Amino acid sequence: MFRTHTCGELNLSHVSQTVTLCGWVQRSRNLGGMTFIDLRDRYGITQLTFNMESHKTLCEQARSIGREYVLQVSGKVVERENKNLKIATGEIEIMVENLSVLNTALTPPFTIEDESDGGDELRMKYRYLDIRRNPVKQALLLRHCLASEVRKYMNSQHFVEVETPVLIKSTPEGARDFVVPSRMNQGEFYALPQSPQTFKQLLMVAGLDRYYQIVKCFRDEDLRADRQPEFTQIDCEMSFVEQEDILQTFEGLVKHLFKNIKEIVVPNMPRITYADAIKYYGNDKPDTRFDMKIFELKDIVKGKNFKIFDDAPLVGGICATGCALYTRKQIDELTEWIKRPQIGANGIIWVRWNNEGIKSSVDKFYNEKELKKWFEIAGGKEGDLILILAGEETKTRKALSELRLEMGSRLGLRDKNTFACLWVTDFPLLEWNEEQKRWNAMHHPFTSPKPEDIELLDKNPGGVRANAYDMVINGVEVGGGSIRIFNKELQKKIFSVLGFTNEEAQAQFGFLMNAFEYGAPPHGGIAFGFDRLCSLFGGSDSIRDYIAFPKNNSGRDVMIDAPSGISKEQLNELGITLKTFN
Ligand code: AMO
Repeated sequence: MFRTHTCGELNLSHVSQTVTLCGWVQRSRNLGGMTFIDLRDRYGITQLTFNMESHKTLCEQARSIGREYVLQVSGKVVERENKNLKIATGEIEIMVENLSVLNTALTPPFTIEDESDGGDELRMKYRYLDIRRNPVKQALLLRHCLASEVRKYMNSQHFVEVETPVLIKSTPEGARDFVVPSRMNQGEFYALPQSPQTFKQLLMVAGLDRYYQIVKCFRDEDLRADRQPEFTQIDCEMSFVEQEDILQTFEGLVKHLFKNIKEIVVPNMPRITYADAIKYYGNDKPDTRFDMKIFELKDIVKGKNFKIFDDAPLVGGICATGCALYTRKQIDELTEWIKRPQIGANGIIWVRWNNEGIKSSVDKFYNEKELKKWFEIAGGKEGDLILILAGEETKTRKALSELRLEMGSRLGLRDKNTFACLWVTDFPLLEWNEEQKRWNAMHHPFTSPKPEDIELLDKNPGGVRANAYDMVINGVEVGGGSIRIFNKELQKKIFSVLGFTNEEAQAQFGFLMNAFEYGAPPHGGIAFGFDRLCSLFGGSDSIRDYIAFPKNNSGRDVMIDAPSGISKEQLNELGITLKTFN
């Protein structure tokens, strides 16, 4: 037997037992007659003690051992004199009697401690060492627990886990595809799934009724903290359901996860329409941990010779509670922040109400009575600060959204241990693509329009709302889905509004439309971003921390050095000739 116990389980109840442990050397210390080694494995750290007087050779051997060596030791469990109550094994130590070095190790390129001295890239290059660190290991363990709770819940609801293929053809999720050349069909390519969307719909036609899969998806898009080129979805589909059934079922899933992983009881999730999310929060994934809704000043500010307001299609603001004492310096700094190109607002108009009365940056144009009215509209009171932006509708709302989030952060209203979940519903079916001068599906082309809006498809496509919904937690879109079109004629109509000819639609999605001719049930579904759920549960902004072997911001795996070139022979076999490739 390699070991009798792990490095995380021994305590006072084991005193005087002889045990064998295996693990890695976290650190060692020589104190005169004694040498101490902290031995680490997945489960914890146990202190090993070597006594120079009683075991001279062993102690000398221990002194030659470096960090991250792999050891097997046996000895007696004894009570420690200097207890460390911060760790589970901190009341005992092992008086080592036998030591074997199972493997040596080079000095690691960064410290394997909770707080490492290694930069991001270095730690990614040696990810297997990074995973030895507690925070990274804990993140992977959390991911494992979440996955197993997801399966528990889904199985209890009679969902069937089905694997769908990875070598497929283009799926319409709106990103670029990763493609794989086919050797047996030269000149042709598979695409990796951006999601299993079409397959899960076919499984409904096939009568499986309830499907789920924890599945890798691939999207060639610009990367951010919450985006990876390969990521994982909890992908789900149900037959004979309406939107309400789906919202209930998956609200149930997320409540189950919070209860079982974080011991948090999540209240019933509020619902907000897309239109209201944009109006009150400036974006479709509002962070509702705090209120601070956007208000509009509309006509009451016009016609007072203040050109900025007179010319602006939107004059909107937020009320920062308790910020009346913000200094000029703080406001100037906020103004610089909002003027950065990423946000691009022109400036901030401020009004504050403190014990000296109401003062603003537009006192020349508006009197105190008028400014007080603004406070009324904003729902503000003495002690508060109103911040106003003016300009073109979409851009200004976006900037107001950023300003709201920034003020929320500055005021400490975005605590990582508080969770605000909600559904955003009634998304527009289509969005106008200005570059290509055509309509794109906002979710994907299989999303059903709201029945009452179908007649608008020709007259006012932009006004058609979809039977689509997103789940948002703390301002993160964790999941999205829709009720699907299951009628071939309506599906054809949508393809035509999206600018596909009949032939193009048939070539790309004929397999699905044909399947719809064989008795497709009404169906709908949702997919959660599993990595995003993990990072929310773990309290981090970056999904990378929850992926065992993530890609960096340029989409590279710096550990295995991928992507990489391939040999001429391989290219020839695939029938690919690249003039620039040498
Ligand atoms: P959607 O495209 O909204 O819907 O994706 C579902 C969820 O997947 C997560 N997600 C990502 N996570 C990490 N990195 C990425 N690059 C990335 N892209 C998306 C998000 C998102 O909410 N087939 C539909 C679902 C359906 O209609 O049932 C789909 O894929 O959390």
